[in-house]
Amino acid sequence: MNRMEIEKELIREIREFFAADSSGHDYDHMMRVYRTARMIAEEEHADLWTVSLASLLHDTDDYKISPETEEEHGNAVRLMKKYNVSEETQKKVCRIIAQVSFSGKDSVVPDSLEGKIVQDADRLDAIGAIGIARAFAYGGAHHRKLYDPEEIYRTDLSKEEYRSLQSSTIAHFHEKLLLLRDMMNTKTGRMLAQHRHDFMEMFLDEFDAEWEGRI
Ligand code: ADP
Ligand code: NI
Repeated sequence: MNRMEIEKELIREIREFFAADSSGHDYDHMMRVYRTARMIAEEEHADLWTVSLASLLHDTDDYKISPETEEEHGNAVRLMKKYNVSEETQKKVCRIIAQVSFSGKDSVVPDSLEGKIVQDADRLDAIGAIGIARAFAYGGAHHRKLYDPEEIYRTDLSKEEYRSLQSSTIAHFHEKLLLLRDMMNTKTGRMLAQHRHDFMEMFLDEFDAEWEGRI
């Protein structure tokens, strides 16, 4: 199989893998990240093959979906082996998957250009209109409140603390989503993030105004 055929097969595998998800980690998220990451990769002259595989596989071993395979990236490795992806590429992709996710103040900047790109693409999908929709979908799936005016927002959480939060979805904007713009790695990422960030700020202002009965 050539690379294009492998990508097509992987896309089919990913569609099956995420078929049952309703918490914002679905096939459509993988496809948006894949497209955005490839677009940035072209701008940045990065290795498209690594970026494509890592973006398609970045959430198959996420702790929220498959905690038992998180450490060794079991699902991603199984799929790459199935389609005879080289050992060298498997290693690069696993390193990206390990570095990509948001973990409060323990978040890392990936040490490859390809990792930086996949991280930007993944984070772009967590902000803006789609990011807002995903956050409330996640909150609903995890029985979280929309908002709790009594809450105190924390932005200096360790990975473990961040993962154990049970806060409202509006709190999630302050604990993660509003921080992402300033964490972008690439020029294209920063540009897209600015627009999406502004839109989230507008949304939060409206939300407050309605909550307080000002409009
Ligand atoms: P990503 O897919 O960008 O790595 P995550 O795995 O952290 O992001 O989360 C997937 C989606 O669920 C994102 O849109 C994220 O904002 C949302 N999400 C994660 N944790 C929460 C939470 N505690 N409250 C609301 N939304 C959340
Ligand atoms: Ni993701």
